Amino acid sequence: MEQNIIPNNFSIGQQQRSELKKHKSLLIWFTGLSGSGKSTIADALENALFQREIHTYLLDGDNVRKGLNNNLSFSEEDRAENIRRIAEVAHLMLDAGLIVIASFISPFREDRENAKRIVGYTNFVEIFVNTPIEECERRDVKGLYAKARAGEIENFTGVNAPYEPPMAPDLEIDTTLISVAEAVGLIMKFIDKRM
Ligand code: PPS
Repeated sequence: MEQNIIPNNFSIGQQQRSELKKHKSLLIWFTGLSGSGKSTIADALENALFQREIHTYLLDGDNVRKGLNNNLSFSEEDRAENIRRIAEVAHLMLDAGLIVIASFISPFREDRENAKRIVGYTNFVEIFVNTPIEECERRDVKGLYAKARAGEIENFTGVNAPYEPPMAPDLEIDTTLISVAEAVGLIMKFIDKRM
């Protein structure tokens, strides 16, 4: 399908856009169970970056699934497609010179590896929000764990669908051990030299 597609090389590229914005682009990818705290930390991180006049965009599971990916289910195949599309969108945003924050359960190693390959390994920071499932379930902010336990949701990650933890994440955060502000501090320290 791609055989007759020849990409154009335009005169303004990522480097020029980054020079204008005065920072590099980077994809900060949060992975973890539902209710682990991914979106809360991602939101606080974007706020901290915004205060420093850094150009950001936050891509988040529920939001992307309401629009771009509203035709995808939670089957393994559709989750792979979900992550592939998000990585392609993030790739465009990196080209636009943004610091992109992505918050998705992204339970499969292979899909996360595919995302890294799409955007380029050096552009990717992987953050594992490793909050124990007991705590995620205790919080059950959206009531989804209760529904999954009652058999009302198919393929719910951690209950009746797998989560494959990253082998070597750049950072690992357990929200039962550190606060949101401390997590943001750790991430800012980690990404500071790469921006
Ligand atoms: S994935 O696995 O990366 O494709 O999932 P993601 O796009 O991040 O979407 C996760 C949000 O969808 C809601 N939800 C479910 N999650 C997991 N499994 C099932 N079956 C499911 N059904 C709905 C849920 O609100 C997730 O949001 P978070 O913020 O992770 O709680």
